[in-house]
Amino acid sequence: MTYHPNTTRMRQENFYQLRHDLKIGSVAELPVVIDQLNVEYKRRKSLDLELENAKSSIQASFENLISPNFNKNPEITEISKNIYRVGPIFKNLPAIKNHLNTFSAHCRSNNLPFARPNSMNKYGVLLPKNVLNTDELTEFFKNLFCDKSIENRFNFKLDSQRVFTVEYGTGKDSDLDLHFDDSELTANICLENEDENDGKLFFQKRVQNGEHFDECFFDQIENYAIVHEGKFVHSAENSQKNRMNLIVWMRDSEVRGKLCKMCGEVPDLSDEPRFEYAGGFKK
Ligand SMILES: [Fe+2]
Repeated sequence: MTYHPNTTRMRQENFYQLRHDLKIGSVAELPVVIDQLNVEYKRRKSLDLELENAKSSIQASFENLISPNFNKNPEITEISKNIYRVGPIFKNLPAIKNHLNTFSAHCRSNNLPFARPNSMNKYGVLLPKNVLNTDELTEFFKNLFCDKSIENRFNFKLDSQRVFTVEYGTGKDSDLDLHFDDSELTANICLENEDENDGKLFFQKRVQNGEHFDECFFDQIENYAIVHEGKFVHSAENSQKNRMNLIVWMRDSEVRGKLCKMCGEVPDLSDEPRFEYAGGFKK
């Protein structure tokens, strides 16, 4: 990406929106931000291939799939329109936590590309299927929330996912700015929270089918998930104490094939090698 100040003209309202979104104080800061965007663009361009290569190098101790042992009858409560609290999720929470902590330490000490789950979270790990059976996670939530016989739930196909952990606390991330997820449906499972008053999940005011819904805050409770549509704008409040969440971004290739929600355009799909599920797109 190149910025030509003399030849590039942005519509004024777009420019002010961009400045606001990227927290750019003055025009003089714009080239610096564009340099940062170029660095991130290059990182992402080679990331899928690096992840694919690193996946095959994961040492034998991680090659045994850990199948999450799910609680078959979790309690489900609608805590706001189309936002649910569900749990308990795992019967074997300590084993899951231990496995993911070991993998996270392994990635950090071996400088593996999994050790930065997305562009906003610096602490946590992206999880390949040979570390945790992520298909089973999606199947679990799909059965709970996308069964056609259940009224007022979601009508998504959920045929792939991106799964990662996020870690907060001293020396780690402290909070997370407002954003929407690159998913149709997200399950945000709290694996550990030393202080339930910390790190609440915040949702902005929303309008759905003409109905207004107020902003809301939800506690992060161990072994419970908050399930919401990925498009809802949300953030995580400050965490002073340790907190770890398992995030499941579940995707519907039919929805994504029509429109990419990140760029707002019809996707142009390629045959290049991609990590796991290629962002949920299918050719
Ligand atoms: Fe999110």
